[in-house]
Amino acid sequence: MDRRRLFALGGAAGALGIAGVGGGAVGYGIRGAKADKRSATELRYPFRGEIQQGILTPAQDNMYTAAFDVTDEDLDSLRFLLEDWTVAAEQMTAGELVGGAPSANREFPPADSGEAWGYPASGLTITFGFGRSLFVDDKGRDRFGLAEKMPAVLRDGVPKFANEALRTDASDGDLLVQACANDPQVAVHAIRNLTRIAFGTAKLRWGQIGYGRTSSTSTAQETPRNLFGFKDGTNNIKSEDGDKELDKHLWVQSGDDDASDAWMTGGTYFMARKIHMYLEIWDRVSLAEQEDIIGRDKRYGAPQSVASPDADAEFTPLDFAAKNGQGDRAIDARAHVAIVAPEHNHGAMMLRRGYNYTDGNDSLGRLDAGLFFIAYVRDPRTQFYPILKTMAHKDLLTEYLQHQASALFAIPPGLGESDTMIGQKLLA
Ligand code: HEM
Repeated sequence: MDRRRLFALGGAAGALGIAGVGGGAVGYGIRGAKADKRSATELRYPFRGEIQQGILTPAQDNMYTAAFDVTDEDLDSLRFLLEDWTVAAEQMTAGELVGGAPSANREFPPADSGEAWGYPASGLTITFGFGRSLFVDDKGRDRFGLAEKMPAVLRDGVPKFANEALRTDASDGDLLVQACANDPQVAVHAIRNLTRIAFGTAKLRWGQIGYGRTSSTSTAQETPRNLFGFKDGTNNIKSEDGDKELDKHLWVQSGDDDASDAWMTGGTYFMARKIHMYLEIWDRVSLAEQEDIIGRDKRYGAPQSVASPDADAEFTPLDFAAKNGQGDRAIDARAHVAIVAPEHNHGAMMLRRGYNYTDGNDSLGRLDAGLFFIAYVRDPRTQFYPILKTMAHKDLLTEYLQHQASALFAIPPGLGESDTMIGQKLLA
């Protein structure tokens, strides 16, 4: 098994069955192993490694992702914040309290807010990223002396797409923190305590809670469902795909970009879209039409090119040339899977790692819900924007969606054993 894959699946410790991953959870995520709900809370993933955790890690059930704006203009303050965050993140992902031991001094507020005290690590991963506005402000001014190291991907930014109504205050930001865990309280505890640590240096810009993963990032995981009721994450990049595929689609390679080569090689890009789903309208669409819109069977997730779908057909490759009983294409050329498939996008692939969200309801009693879509890609300019552009114009699914927020962040590689902060090569 190659090294990065091993890391993603729980680290050498987990795979070898020694310390690091709690009891019965050893082997979770490895091909053939069954994802076990009972032990999901016992999982512990190593914080340090070649790549950051929370990308290839088998997608956990809950997410709390937040972006922060740095309010201090001093580079040292930014460094201190990232060092403090690194220490706290390492402690929390190990299932420890922020500060390590419980606070002994009763005259001060405890270092850890306490709501996950005694809770197992629950597979918590914390992934950090840097946004364009950390490098330059909206007038193009170099904020921390980092502008010349800004990746071209961030410099170019995200283009505008049809049918979007983006909220600026819920989009982008200077720093990204994605916390994923199998216990929602553990994920909330992580963001809450990092927010608290940031007080005086950075403030929360937006946060999104997601429940129910909408992707699988390991072949050992069962495919979950999105709020339209369809299995989502079937044809995804999986951690078992091997270094060759992952290097091609996921990890930034040396030579990809001169400005950021020294600190982004081995990293990736995080692209999120908060997509509102018109559930009430969708729920009035016939089952046959719903399946035509997606291009897959609703029950099993099988491609419509499979004549008699059953539970074994989910992973049958899509056949876009196959005909149905009427002699028409079994999968409509405007079906979602046809629009976004690598076969129709010059082979471009992305690692999807999104979550369902529900933010309450509007005044008419309609659910304010949808998909917090997250893709990790080596280069969004070739692997995401062209696909989303075609989707916005041609995909039958687009009519039932509205993009409400967008976020692009550079995700540096993981922390080495002696690193004191995330993004050490950028900031040291
Ligand atoms: C709320 C919005 C969305 C819904 C409900 C949705 C739903 C689905 C479903 C049900 C599948 C089939 C199962 C699978 O292979 O995972 C799928 C596949 C896929 N979706 Fe989406 N999706 C949404 C947005 C997006 C966006 C914004 C993108 C990227 C621009 C995207 C990219 C993909 C890709 C690449 C696949 C795999 C296609 C293949 O190779 O078979 N999806 N999606």
